Amino acid sequence: MWSVWSYMFLGITFLISSTNARSTHGSSEPMKWDIITFSQSWPITGCKEWIDKQSSHECSLPQPKDSWIVHGAWPDLRGSKHPVQFCNKTWHFDPEAVKTIEAELIEHWTNIETGTSKYEFWAHEWNKHGTCAAALPALNSEYKYFSQGLAWNHQYNMTTVLQTAGITPDDHKQYSVEDIHHAIKASTGAEPVIQCYRKAGRNYLVELRVCFDTKLQLTPCVSGKKVFGGVTVKTNCVSSGVIYPKNVPMEMFDLWDLGVNVEEQSWTPSPYEVIRV
Ligand SMILES: *[C@@H]1O[C@H](CO)[C@@H](O)[C@H](O)[C@H]1NC(C)=O
Ligand SMILES: *[C@@H]1O[C@H](CO)[C@@H](O)[C@H](O)[C@H]1NC(C)=O
Repeated sequence: MWSVWSYMFLGITFLISSTNARSTHGSSEPMKWDIITFSQSWPITGCKEWIDKQSSHECSLPQPKDSWIVHGAWPDLRGSKHPVQFCNKTWHFDPEAVKTIEAELIEHWTNIETGTSKYEFWAHEWNKHGTCAAALPALNSEYKYFSQGLAWNHQYNMTTVLQTAGITPDDHKQYSVEDIHHAIKASTGAEPVIQCYRKAGRNYLVELRVCFDTKLQLTPCVSGKKVFGGVTVKTNCVSSGVIYPKNVPMEMFDLWDLGVNVEEQSWTPSPYEVIRV
């Protein structure tokens, strides 16, 4: 957990680095984007998705495992069909640039996919999205981009936001997507995007997104809209029946669900539980 002091420290170093232009790039380029989507993931669902891709996969969950983690901050141009990505192919992710915040990144911008290389996830987010975000002076270094993600993760604390509305992780409950939408809107003022991982007819809450304009002020996200009983929600989830899972998926539960006799299966349980990166 971050103390108040580490946030103050981050704030101060942020101010110093903002006034220090030596290590910054790209601010003279015209802006290619006008909205940035900040996406956070629910690691329990992310883990399920990773294991469903291949049963030998294992997850490295954050600590504590029931905290929303950063996926990324993705610039876009409203109304354009062309994705804004890989804006500077010569500016490769350099772990040294975020060394001082690496511990926080491991905790809050966690690569849950065990077996992928340590920096692969951050390098992907930086190379694909960060190099585009860098057109904005406030985000024009790796340090600023990743620090902003950590700050938003703290500011838009989805565990708290959902809990305030009585929405808590529970493997046996089903929530309505409208309630999730209202919870986020009521606490943050954001018009969010709510994404589900849809598998075997079920909807598992996987990502919550809020969007900002180029002044980094909240702005309504642009995404597929669905109307449920008069409420417009940007989501791919079904109306009711959204599962906000509490536990890491176990192969056994899935076999039970399918009515398979577990005893007869010759499988070795995988150690899905917490292994830190
Ligand atoms: C791309 O990145 C390189 C390496 O960091 C930098 O020198 C250059 O100024 C960047 N180009 C633009 C257009 O931002
Ligand atoms: C979010 O809130 C929870 C519960 O209050 C807290 O334990 C956690 O540290 C917060 N996360 C961040 C990133 O601030």
